[in-house]
Amino acid sequence: MTGNGALQESAQLYTMDSLRVEVARHDSHESWCAYAIFQSDGSQLTLGLLAVPLMRTRFPRGAITQIRDSMNVPIKTPEEIELMREAGRQAASVLEMITPHVQAGVSTGHLDRLCHDYIVNELGSTPAPLNYHGFPKSICTSINHVVCHGIPDDSKKLKKGDIMNIDVTVKTAAGYHGDSSMMFIIGETIQGERLSRVTQECLYKSMALVRPGVRLSELAQAIEHHAKANGYSVVQDFCGHGIGAGFHEDPQILHYDGYAPEADIELAAGMCFTIEPMINVGDYRTKVLRDGWTAVTKDKGLTAQWEHTLLVTETGVEVLTARSDEDLSFLASS
Ligand code: MF3
Ligand code: CO
Ligand code: CO
Repeated sequence: MTGNGALQESAQLYTMDSLRVEVARHDSHESWCAYAIFQSDGSQLTLGLLAVPLMRTRFPRGAITQIRDSMNVPIKTPEEIELMREAGRQAASVLEMITPHVQAGVSTGHLDRLCHDYIVNELGSTPAPLNYHGFPKSICTSINHVVCHGIPDDSKKLKKGDIMNIDVTVKTAAGYHGDSSMMFIIGETIQGERLSRVTQECLYKSMALVRPGVRLSELAQAIEHHAKANGYSVVQDFCGHGIGAGFHEDPQILHYDGYAPEADIELAAGMCFTIEPMINVGDYRTKVLRDGWTAVTKDKGLTAQWEHTLLVTETGVEVLTARSDEDLSFLASS
C-alpha cells in the first residue's frame, strides 16, 4: 500500500478540520473501505483499511454513519454454503501443510513461498492477501509483539522462544474465501504458551455461543471476560468480519464489547463470519509500522491471535476451517 494520492476515481471525499479523508471501496463485494488521510498541504498522513473501531477512535461519530452503508449481512444459499465449506477446508489444509515446516532457523519468507505454491499448485486457488490493497505476500506472519498483518521476509528467521501467528486466506476458483490463523510456539516459552492457550480459549468460548438469535456483543463479552480474567487485554483496532465471495463482508466482529446498538445484530442461520481475537499481555493499544501494514503492540508486549471461519447453522455453529489437530467436541451442536 504505497500511498500516491487518490485511491480510485470513485473515492468519496470528506473534510474534517484541516484533514481531507478519501474513502474507496475495494470491489463490489467489499463492505470495508480503504481510506487515506491527507493534511491541508497535500501530504499523506496515513492509508489503510477502514474498520469501525479504528474510525471510532479517530473521528466524530457522525462521520462513521456518513461513510458506512447500512449493515448488509449476506445469508448464504445452500449452494454458497457448499462453496464456503470447500474454501474453509482449503484454508485449514494450508495450516496443516505448513505446521511441520515452522521451526527455529526457518525464515518467514520461506514459509510464505511454501504456502503460496501449495495454494496455487496443489489447491488450484489464490492466496487472497497477495496484492490485497497492496499487501505484498501470500500469508501474514506475526511474531511476538506483532499483532497482525506481519509481512513475510527472507531475512526474518524464527528463533527459539518466539511465538508466531500464521494467517491464511484462500480464495477458491469458485470465488469463495476461507480465512484462518493459528499460533506456533518455537522452542519453549512459558509466557508465550500461556498467552497462546488463553487466546485460543477466547476463540473457543465465543464459538461455543454461536447460534441463531445470539447477539454479536455476547461473543465479544465472552472473549473480553476470559482475556481479562487471565490478566490480558483485548485489541480493539482490528476485528473479525463477515466472509464469502468478499474477503471482508459485514458484519464486523468486535472482540471487545464496543458495539453501537445498530451494529450489534442477532446471528441468523446462513451467516458466515470469522472470529479472530488478538489478545495482549500488556496494553491493548496498537500502532502500524511505516510499511503501512505491520501492526504491533504500542508497549511492545507479547500478543497472540487465533482465527476460524464459521457458519451459523439452525442449531449452532459449523467450523469451516477446523483442523485435524483440534478437538472441537465442546461444541454441543453443529
Ligand atoms: N487474514 C486477515 C484477516 O483475518 C486479513 C489479512 S489482509 C492482508 O482478516 F492484506 F494483510 F493480508
Ligand atoms: Co479474518
Ligand atoms: Co485471517
